[in-house]
Amino acid sequence: MEKTTLANGVAMPLLGLGVYRSSPEDTITAVSAALSTGYRLIDTAAAYRNETEVGEALRNAPVGRDDVFLVTKLWISDYGYYEALHGFDRSLKKLGVDTVDLYLLHQPMPNEWQRTVAAWKAVGRLLAEGRAKAIGVSNFSPELLADLIDRTGIVPHVNQVELHPFFTQEGLRATHERLGIATQAWSPIGGVMRYFTDDPEAAPSPLSHPVITGLATRHGKTAAQVILRWHLQHGFCAIPKSVNPRRIAENFAVFDFALADAEMTAIDALDTGLRSGPNPADIDTVKYPLRIED
Ligand SMILES: NC(=O)c1ccc[n+]([C@@H]2O[C@H](COP(=O)([O-])OP(=O)(O)OC[C@H]3O[C@@H](n4cnc5c(N)ncnc54)[C@H](OP(=O)(O)O)[C@@H]3O)[C@@H](O)[C@H]2O)c1
Repeated sequence: MEKTTLANGVAMPLLGLGVYRSSPEDTITAVSAALSTGYRLIDTAAAYRNETEVGEALRNAPVGRDDVFLVTKLWISDYGYYEALHGFDRSLKKLGVDTVDLYLLHQPMPNEWQRTVAAWKAVGRLLAEGRAKAIGVSNFSPELLADLIDRTGIVPHVNQVELHPFFTQEGLRATHERLGIATQAWSPIGGVMRYFTDDPEAAPSPLSHPVITGLATRHGKTAAQVILRWHLQHGFCAIPKSVNPRRIAENFAVFDFALADAEMTAIDALDTGLRSGPNPADIDTVKYPLRIED
C-alpha cells in the first residue's frame, strides 16, 4: 500500500474505502470485504449514520485496530467548542475506539463562521491530547483555509474535497502544496455526478469518457482502475465507495501498472472546472438541518 506522510509525520494510506450512502448492513459487508482485500483506510462520518457498523466490522476484521487508518468527521450541528468535543466523544463511542487516525470538520459554514472556528479549536485540542492522530477539514476553499489558519494558528493536515477527472481542483491543490496540506479526493471516480439526478444512468461520468475507456483498454484495466491510478500518481488519497465486494477488489487492484506522463496529462485535460456536489459556500444548519443523535 502506497502512503503519504502528513505534515506531523503520520503516514496515511493513499487508497481507502468510503461509506457515504452505504446502508448500515451494507457497511458491515463493505468494510469487512475491504479489510480482507487489503484496504487499510476507512472513511466514515457522523452524518453517514454508519459509524457503529464501521466499528463492528473493524472489531471482526482479520487485522488489528493499529493497522487501520480510521477517518471520521464532525457534522455541522455539532460545531462550537464544547459541542465539537461532545460530537467527537459520541463518534468514538459509536465506533468503539479510543482514538481516530484523522478527524475532519465535515463542511465549512461561512454563515456560521464563529462556530466553525470554535469547532476547529476543539479539534486542535483533540490532536494535542493524542485522541486524533491527525486532523483536517473537508470542502474548504483557499480563502476559508487561510482565514481558519489565521484565526487559530492550526494548519489542517488534510483537506478532503470533491476531486475526479471532471473536477481536478488545480488551484486548490496549489494552495494545499504551499501550506503542506494533503489532498484527499472524495467521489474519486465521479460518483457524485449521479447523486442529484432522476436518471443516474444518463448522467455524465468519467467512467464512460472515451479518454478513460481508451486508456483502460490500452492497459488491460477498467475505467475505475485507470482513474484511481491517476489519483495515486498525483499523490492524492482516494476513497472510492462501493458496497459490492467485486468492485471493492477491482478498485484495489491498481498497484500493478502505471500511467505514462502523457496519459496523466490527457486525464488532467478532462477538467470542466464544475463541481457536482453542493457549493460549500451555501452550507449552514438552516439548509442542512440534520442533527446527530447520541
Ligand atoms: N467530505 C465530503 O463532503 C464527502 C462527500 C461525498 C463523499 N465523501 C466520501 O468519499 C467517498 C467516495 O465518494 P462517493 O461515494 O461520492 O463517490 P465514488 O466513490 O466516486 O463513486 C461511488 C459510486 O460508484 C460506484 N462504483 C464503485 N466502484 C465502481 C467501479 N469499479 N465501477 C463502476 N462503478 C463503481 C458505486 O456503486 P456500488 O456501491 O454499487 O459499487 C457508487 O455508486 C464516500 O463514500 C465518502 O466516504 C465525502
